[in-house]
Amino acid sequence: MVGTSRADDTFPEPAAPIWEYRDFMSSFPTGVAVVTSLDTAGEPQGMTCTSLLSVTLRPPTLLVSLRHGSATLAAVIARGVFSVNLLHAGAREIAELFSRPVESRFSRVSWRLSAHGAPWLVDAALGVADCSVVGATDVRDHRLVFGEVRHVSVCESDALLYGRRRFGSWAVPAPDVGGRSTSGTGSAGTSPR
Ligand SMILES: Cc1cc2nc3c(=O)[nH]c(=O)nc-3n(C[C@H](O)[C@H](O)[C@H](O)COP(=O)(O)O)c2cc1C
Repeated sequence: MVGTSRADDTFPEPAAPIWEYRDFMSSFPTGVAVVTSLDTAGEPQGMTCTSLLSVTLRPPTLLVSLRHGSATLAAVIARGVFSVNLLHAGAREIAELFSRPVESRFSRVSWRLSAHGAPWLVDAALGVADCSVVGATDVRDHRLVFGEVRHVSVCESDALLYGRRRFGSWAVPAPDVGGRSTSGTGSAGTSPR
């Protein structure tokens, strides 16, 4: 019932404890992205984000859930454009860098501005989607930002995963041969072009 005016105290049960909810969600491993944009001063902003969801195919639309107060959220809304950088398995330190309160995160990574006007993490990403903001809605302490995907670039690399509060990786399995799949060997570190 998110988005309605129904008050929490009218629910028959209180919300589950946050730690229980965190335990539950941590059992759902996901890929790891860094959402990037430029702020109104032209400075790059970016944050680690696992709340990435494909919403529609026609037109291609995704959403990210960004916390209120985030400098990245402010930049995304102000510019109306953002990039979703999907991290490869070798980019764990980048995921950590973009999730901590570190000054000038972008001085510690390789990046360039895409033609769409948002930063690409050229050495850390296995894929990038350039998006235009087509909607945003507040849900409690986060804002859901909907992006129409203008351009994508992706290469075959092992993906960085996050689950059980740890980072891991997913090696792309080789195609089935005779009904059996074999473990793949991705090339972590290859840049999207
Ligand atoms: C693995 C991981 C996933 C995260 N996913 C999200 C997310 O989906 N949305 C969010 O608001 N914060 C998420 N965070 C927290 C942000 O990365 C963190 O608050 C960051 O410092 C925000 O940057 P900013 O405030 O400079 O924009 C995540 C952190 C980690 C380590």
